[in-house]
Amino acid sequence: MSRVPFVVGNWKLNKTIAEALALVTELKNQLAAVKGVQVGVAPTLVALPAVAKRLEGTPIATSAQDCFWESGGAWTGEVGPAQLLDAGATWAIVGHSERRQFFGDTNEGVGKKTRAALAAGLGAILCVGETLAERDGGRTLAVVEEQLAAGLAGVDAAWVPRLVVAYEPVWAIGTGRTATPAQAQEVHAHIRRRLADRLGAAAAETIRILYGGSVKPSNAEALIAEKDIDGSLVGGASLEAADFIAIVKAARGT
Ligand code: PGA
Repeated sequence: MSRVPFVVGNWKLNKTIAEALALVTELKNQLAAVKGVQVGVAPTLVALPAVAKRLEGTPIATSAQDCFWESGGAWTGEVGPAQLLDAGATWAIVGHSERRQFFGDTNEGVGKKTRAALAAGLGAILCVGETLAERDGGRTLAVVEEQLAAGLAGVDAAWVPRLVVAYEPVWAIGTGRTATPAQAQEVHAHIRRRLADRLGAAAAETIRILYGGSVKPSNAEALIAEKDIDGSLVGGASLEAADFIAIVKAARGT
């Protein structure tokens, strides 16, 4: 089964609208001829409509960094799937560890967000990953499995083509410390087994599982070479066109 690699830049709380537009314009121009890999960018919500508009007619997708589970009502500060689609997003990252760690996202809430995003027609990038204490305690696979089970609760088989999982060990995010390709592959293979249990073996073979956590041009190729690593979710290195483009090129045609 060949899965088209997917490389997504998670810009987090970085860039003004003008800076965001400058970066996507460069990506759009420089990636126009690059085939065999799908690319996405996740700007802040305020820059998202302008970025989506600038990327219209290109294969580069616009993603939100989060997605609430309702699209209307008394939920001050939240933005739901209907608003994201209206703003031009086609994907949403859900359950990023920074949301879990600093903004109270629970496994159950992440499940609701994933379901709402997919039901509305967005693609969902469901993030899972263990902390350093959990890894040191030998609980990596159990933690990831629990996050995955809750994140996928109520996910319909029909949504599988728009479902992506990202494995992001918390200890590797923004730390410069990457999981080794073998460490990542072990967890990715486990995720795919659990996806098979939950959604069937054939469906599991089609779902992209991205690695995230200090991905940079120097390690991108070795990570993507692993059998169950189908792309990357890139934070810091997605903020500079040259680094991000090098990571996209490393994923091409794998
Ligand atoms: P990083 O972030 O590449 O800066 O480690 C990855 C992420 O949080 O998605």
